This record gives sequence, C-alpha cells and structure tokens, in this order.
Amino acid sequence: MSREPAAVPLDAFALDPTVVHANHGSFGACPRAVLDAQTAARARLEAGTMRWFVLEYLPALDAARDAAATFVGADPDGFVFVPNATHGVATVLANLRLSAGDELLTTDHAYRACRNALDRTAGAAGAHVVVAPIALPARDPAAPIAAVLERVTPRTRLVLVDHVTSPTALVLDVGVLARALPAHAPLCVDGAHAPGMLDLGVGALGATYYAGNFHKWTCAPKGAGFLWVAADRRDGFRPLVTSHGSTLPDGSRTRFRLEHDWTGTHDPTPYLTVPAAISTVAALGGGWPRVRAHNRALARVLRDDLADALGAGPIDLTTGATAASMAALAVTLPAGADHLAVERALLERGVEVPIVSHPGSPWPLVRVSAHLYNQRDDAARLAAALTALGVRGMRIP
Ligand SMILES: Cc1ncc(COP(=O)(O)O)c(C=O)c1O
Repeated sequence: MSREPAAVPLDAFALDPTVVHANHGSFGACPRAVLDAQTAARARLEAGTMRWFVLEYLPALDAARDAAATFVGADPDGFVFVPNATHGVATVLANLRLSAGDELLTTDHAYRACRNALDRTAGAAGAHVVVAPIALPARDPAAPIAAVLERVTPRTRLVLVDHVTSPTALVLDVGVLARALPAHAPLCVDGAHAPGMLDLGVGALGATYYAGNFHKWTCAPKGAGFLWVAADRRDGFRPLVTSHGSTLPDGSRTRFRLEHDWTGTHDPTPYLTVPAAISTVAALGGGWPRVRAHNRALARVLRDDLADALGAGPIDLTTGATAASMAALAVTLPAGADHLAVERALLERGVEVPIVSHPGSPWPLVRVSAHLYNQRDDAARLAAALTALGVRGMRIP
C-alpha cells in the first residue's frame, strides 16, 4: 500500500497524532487556526461582557450569518444559527400544528436522534411516523426518492429526510424530492453532514426547512449549526426557547430574527468563528471545491483499501448521486459482541471509527470518514485493529 502524505499535516489540527482518526463525520475536528480565532472572539467578549452583548453581539452575528449563509447558498433573512442540527430539526417539529391521525414521513436511514424527536412529536399529537425503507445496497439514486414519494398521503404534514444519511453515508437527491412533494407535505432536510461536504445551494433546493452543521465538515468549533426556513414560513416560526425577542419592537429586524437571534445568554463564539473555519479550511486545502473533491476521493480509497483488507462489500450509491466524504462497509462482528463493545475496544486501542448498528441496514457497518488530515495509511491501521478484534468483512449481493 502506498503511504501518500495527507493533504494537510495532522498538526494543523488539534488532533492526537497517536490516534487513527477515521470518524470526522460524527464530531468534526478543528484546525488550530480556527480554535485560535474562537479564543480571540471569546477574549473580546469576556473583556467587557455588557459592552460586547449590547453593542457588538448583533453586528458580529449578522456578519457571521452573511458569510455562513453565503457558504451554504441560503438567503440570510431565513437563516438562523442554532447549536446543532438536532436542535434545528426539533425547532421545525415544535412549529408543526398536528392533529390526531396526521403523518410525519421519514426513511429508515434517518438519524436516530431525529427519529426519536419525530416519534415524540407524533406521540404527543396522536399522529403517526411513516417510514419509507431504503433498500441496501442502494445502487439507484432514484429508488430512495421513489420510496418516500410512494408513502405521501393527504395526511402527510412533514417529510424529514437526511441529505447525507448518517449510518450509511448515502447522498440523497433531496432537490428532486422537494420538487416532487405536494404543498401539504413540506420537506425538512436534515443536512447535518452537508455543509463543507457537498456543494450546497440550500435556497435553490426547494425545501421548506434545512438544518445543518458547521462543526462537522466545515471544521467550525462544536456548537455551530443552522436552520434555514423558506420565506413563506418565516412569519410566526418560533424558536424552541421564548426570550426577549417576542416582545421587542421589530424596527429594523424581523420578528423571525429578533426571536431566533437571542434565546438567552450563551457562548456565541462557535457561530462567530464559522467564517474563520470557512476561510481556514479553504486555505489549507486549496479552495473548497478541491477540499470536497479530495475528501470524496479519499473516502473511497479508504473504503476500498479497507474492503480489500477485510473482504467486505461497499454499500454506497454507485450511480448518479454525488458521493459522500464518508463510506460504509458491511461487516460481521465476533460472535456475541455488540457494536458498541467493538467501538469501545477500538477506542481503547486508539482507533476512532463508528461501528454502526441501525434499522436501515441488515448488517453491522463500519463507516469511514476522510478529511484533509487523513491519509491512505489510515485504512491499513484501521484494518489491523478491526481484524485483531475479530471483525470480518461481509460480501453483500
Ligand atoms: C443525519 C444527521 N442528523 C443529525 C445529526 C446530529 O448532529 P448534531 O449532534 O450536531 O445535532 C447527525 C450527526 O451525525 C446526523 O448524521
């Protein structure tokens, strides 16, 4: 196996060099320069908290919002920062007015936390969660979209679909879905992985809601997510937490901004550091198109090398759809071992990679991620650790 260097030295990031980092997808990783920018922002805030929150917070937030919204192709007037994608999806669900018998539609590859939120929202209203299955291996990008559309009924009140599925790393064609859905079934895209991984045009997709994260593939500090709401749904769309914004005079700011931009005192420096993350990662990787292409290609190389070493079959969409910067492989676990125990044993050996057990997959999966600091050799180190723990590849039909 060739030992090609990473596109960017590991020490540009605050990562432990003794560890195999193959799980950028779950929690991201920050370049040191981004953490330095956050520290500087926090120092300005802490130097005079009243001055900062009264005079500087909103202009700083607006500037960060403009850069972040431009990066994801969203209109800043419909864009608010939230701590994470889970929060964004929960906000959308809290704004639904459901009646008994209504339906919330999703797929069996939905992120488990957001599926839990759907169940809770539906349960409180006597509504139902309807689940469209996405068959694996998924070789036809039209099939998942057709599976969702087949389950739309006159009672569908929301469709929640991941842009990049968390357990299986499929990129779903959410634009095609948005255009095909009837008006009574608005689409909420859970784009937790998309910013920085995909060339995003949130506003042009045709979705009604889009939730995403900057702390994954854009490499912003943890706690930097966003929610975008289409223009015709912004009036009366409330945050999860009610604060001063609901009674402040609206003046030059819309009620939507007044309410969502202040939900109580918190540390806003993850949001304010998003522009630094966008420019830092672009500078490290030679521009965002190159960063995305590098990560996509390396994820496939890691997956293929790992598949060769373990004798496993890849499960991603292989035709048409854009590939992700993550890829999943079907594996068998040692008899009696559960996936969390294997994951923990890997962590104890200095290997960070998720072992996925999810209703959307008939097999346990290993999901590998690739970002600028990864190198091809990571696959061999991963394969050695998995093999030592008795994890074997699985050939799927
Ligand atoms: C599809 C999807 N949605 C939501 C999330 C949750 O992200 P966060 O924990 O930042 O809210 C994830 C995290 O991996 C995800 O993959």
